Amino acid sequence: MIRDIQDRILQLKKEKDFCILAHSYQAREIVEIADVVGDSFQLSVEASKAPQKNMLMCGVHFMAETVKMLSPEKNVVLANPQAGCPMAEQMEPEMIEYFKKNNPGYTVVCYINTTAALKTVCDVCVTSSVAVKVVERIPSDKILFIPDCNLGDYVAKQVPGKEIRLLQGGCPIHAAVNPDEVKTAKMQHPEAEVLVHPECRPSVVELADYVGSTSGIMEYAKKSDRKEFIIGTEISIAEHLSYMLPDKRFYPLSKKLLCPNMKYTTLMDVLFALEGKGGLTIEMDEETIVKARRCIDEMIRLGK
Ligand code: 13P
Ligand code: SF4
Repeated sequence: MIRDIQDRILQLKKEKDFCILAHSYQAREIVEIADVVGDSFQLSVEASKAPQKNMLMCGVHFMAETVKMLSPEKNVVLANPQAGCPMAEQMEPEMIEYFKKNNPGYTVVCYINTTAALKTVCDVCVTSSVAVKVVERIPSDKILFIPDCNLGDYVAKQVPGKEIRLLQGGCPIHAAVNPDEVKTAKMQHPEAEVLVHPECRPSVVELADYVGSTSGIMEYAKKSDRKEFIIGTEISIAEHLSYMLPDKRFYPLSKKLLCPNMKYTTLMDVLFALEGKGGLTIEMDEETIVKARRCIDEMIRLGK
């Protein structure tokens, strides 16, 4: 049954010239039919190079907006219109404009998990995989990093020469994990290395053997000589790694690491979107695209 739907999707995407993009937190059956699978940075870069006229994003709303900004001439569809990242909507552009007015000289760095409207008032965007490199390369020493204070704290520790101010924001899924869960997981799996995403709390990050983006975690697990890993990011990564590396064992750090928004998208949503019966077509005005894109272009330039 699932196989039949997947076959129908593969046929339709070819007929209708669609490129299917899937964030690595998507379910297994979606990852299997995608043209591109990756972290936020890989998806935005690969989407701009893809030859297809139509892009179908299996992920959350800000990811589809990012694809639209980088390829405004393309038809960009979000497979499930309900899928949004709660962190992306935590701050309003007016807050940042107020900060800038009262704190001249600061470069505002926003995580890619933000709305296009918020990006229009920021200077540089980052994903978790390039955040440290980009912040190091920004000429200014005074930075406001939004919205994720956990990722911001991690970056600030890696770039101690800069003054990095943070606001209260973050991913409710990663921030829910606590250090006791790391200690318990380590006791249960004493041979395992702990790999965590920098969206986790500093007290969790401190206990990790490796800290990185979703693709960084996957790459580390592939290259490591160790056979067991505790995975401190969304639960799908442990599952995907188990398929990719069947001679190694992967244990999710916590049951709380399940992002409901990332799991809203089903195979049927993908099928309906390709059939023109579902999905959300991303519409953005030109001014928003031009202003918001500046910080994405800066990320790509500084992150190379
Ligand atoms: P990355 O894919 O950049 O690691 O981000 C994780 C995330 O939470 C995406 O929503
Ligand atoms: Fe947003 Fe966190 Fe879900 Fe990623 S895992 S989409 S940051 S809520």
